[in-house]
Amino acid sequence: MCGIMGYIGEKPVQNILIQGLGHLEYRGYDSAGIAILDTTTKTIKVQKMLGRVEKLKQTMKPVAGIMGMGHTRWATHGRPSDVNAHPHSDCKGDLALIHNGIIENYLDLKQDLLSKGHHFASETDTEVIAHLIEEELKQQALKQQKTDLKTDLKKAVDTTLKKLIGTYALCVLHKNFDYIVVARNGSPLVLGLGKGENFFGSDVTAFIAYTKNAVYLNDFETAVVKKDSIQIFDKSGKPVKRNSTTINWDVEQAKKGGYEHFMLKEIFEQPRVVRDTLQVKISDDVVKLCKSAKKLFVIACGTASYAGLVGKYLIEQTAKIPVEWDAASEFRYKNPLIGRQDVLLVISQSGETADTLAALRLAKEKGAKVIGIINVVDSTIARESDQVIYTRAGPEIGVASTKAFSAQLAVLYRLAEKLSSTGKNLKLDSLPALIEKVLKQNDAIAALAKKYFMVYNFFFIGRNVMYPIALEGALKLKEISYIHAEAYAAGELKHGPIALVTDQVPTVALVPKNALYSKMISNIQEIKARNGKIIAIATEGDQEIKEHCTDVISLPKTDEVLYPFLATIAVQLLAYHIANLRECDIDKPRNLAKSVTVE
Ligand code: F6R
Repeated sequence: MCGIMGYIGEKPVQNILIQGLGHLEYRGYDSAGIAILDTTTKTIKVQKMLGRVEKLKQTMKPVAGIMGMGHTRWATHGRPSDVNAHPHSDCKGDLALIHNGIIENYLDLKQDLLSKGHHFASETDTEVIAHLIEEELKQQALKQQKTDLKTDLKKAVDTTLKKLIGTYALCVLHKNFDYIVVARNGSPLVLGLGKGENFFGSDVTAFIAYTKNAVYLNDFETAVVKKDSIQIFDKSGKPVKRNSTTINWDVEQAKKGGYEHFMLKEIFEQPRVVRDTLQVKISDDVVKLCKSAKKLFVIACGTASYAGLVGKYLIEQTAKIPVEWDAASEFRYKNPLIGRQDVLLVISQSGETADTLAALRLAKEKGAKVIGIINVVDSTIARESDQVIYTRAGPEIGVASTKAFSAQLAVLYRLAEKLSSTGKNLKLDSLPALIEKVLKQNDAIAALAKKYFMVYNFFFIGRNVMYPIALEGALKLKEISYIHAEAYAAGELKHGPIALVTDQVPTVALVPKNALYSKMISNIQEIKARNGKIIAIATEGDQEIKEHCTDVISLPKTDEVLYPFLATIAVQLLAYHIANLRECDIDKPRNLAKSVTVE
């Protein structure tokens, strides 16, 4: 949540910031702003406004500077508005500060600062940090008169951080200092190392166009970023040596490549993503850990949690190992019965989701081992996991997760194979070609979307491993088209929700040819008897289904265990085309952000 981008070097900074912020908008897009140290006047120039980076770009005034930072916001404290946009300033406008995270004790701090005469311009929690640093620098200046000590921005930030309760990735630029101070606790921050120039960002997409050498900050670390050096310090102020990581994808992968939306591009990348992720080696250590676990847990949030639910069904059915599944936000607060002999599988695309990270930390505190299934290399969750399996989805920019989900499934399927004592072969290598076949139906699904894009409510139903795909289908439709959609295990519909079925409430039924086919047909009949329209996602060549359903999307014939991958593509495309017809902002749906780093 919130995107941060900063630069210090020799090039004009303004366009670098705007370009970097453009790549980070998927992290939040309520408002945007930049702060630059104006080389001519030696003052800090802040330009910020409600709305997107593009609007800022169109309206901002040119500022000559080689040192600056920018922010794109996902509002927490203080509604989206011009004044609440970052960067924030101290009373005199000598410093600018950007922040991603939440300061829980900001009201107390604000009260104290107000009593000392500080003036606040915004309703945000962030602004208190700017004034606290101002206050520290003021105290330093007073001492300076007596002791001749120089004022020190880094020291002022360190002292301020000790007063904060909450989470932050924050960056401070001051007109009197030739460096920028950055710090992190609970929100991601990564430094980019260039030649005679350095960068920082919420993630590497901010600066991947300029450098592939990245250094990740850990919690409670600060860094002093200069144009030709970066120094990292730990909590006690001791310098930290850390090697840089080379990013193994390039800027082209983070572009739309001719597609109208990132989401569509990412849907179409899935044959490649699944092929690559199936090559990932699952280490013997991971297999040993899972097999020796007294209890195996799988937790995640949102789409990743639905991948985890497929994983639960599959590991239980293929490897005969019981798995407990939970949403991370529930797991962390229910005092879970997890201990030293247990193993927690955490799944996350970003590797930064606050609830997932908190669940991981809780499990580790209780002595459990953690295996991460993560997409973003070196992200916080990846670094804090005991073992990591990286998915190979590449950068996922569309806020609605698509290819990361398929990649997570690919890992979970491979893991289920490895855990099966009979060496079960799930015939996964056929998947990329099967997915290609579903993608060929894009035009047919787009045509189908025209029939349904005006309705207000949808149901999705499925059984067994198709149930989590129903959940995922409903989530995709909700988040990008704003149509209300509910998913049910098909047998549950008659226990209440069927009361809502009318000819205006269509149901997407996931009904491939599998062991529960006839049970699904019964559920479809129940809906049909109440005038409900049914879009069946079924197996090609299934003549019977056509008699029961209003419309059919056909999946290629394959082993029943593989249908979750194929049905996923169909529900993603359906959601995409419906949202497109409703002219929704598909890559940046309202109220959402890609990486949920606050709880
Ligand atoms: C939905 C979506 C979210 C994420 C969830 C977890 O399309 O993208 O539900 O799946 O916020 O995010 P990660 O996987 O980054 O932990």
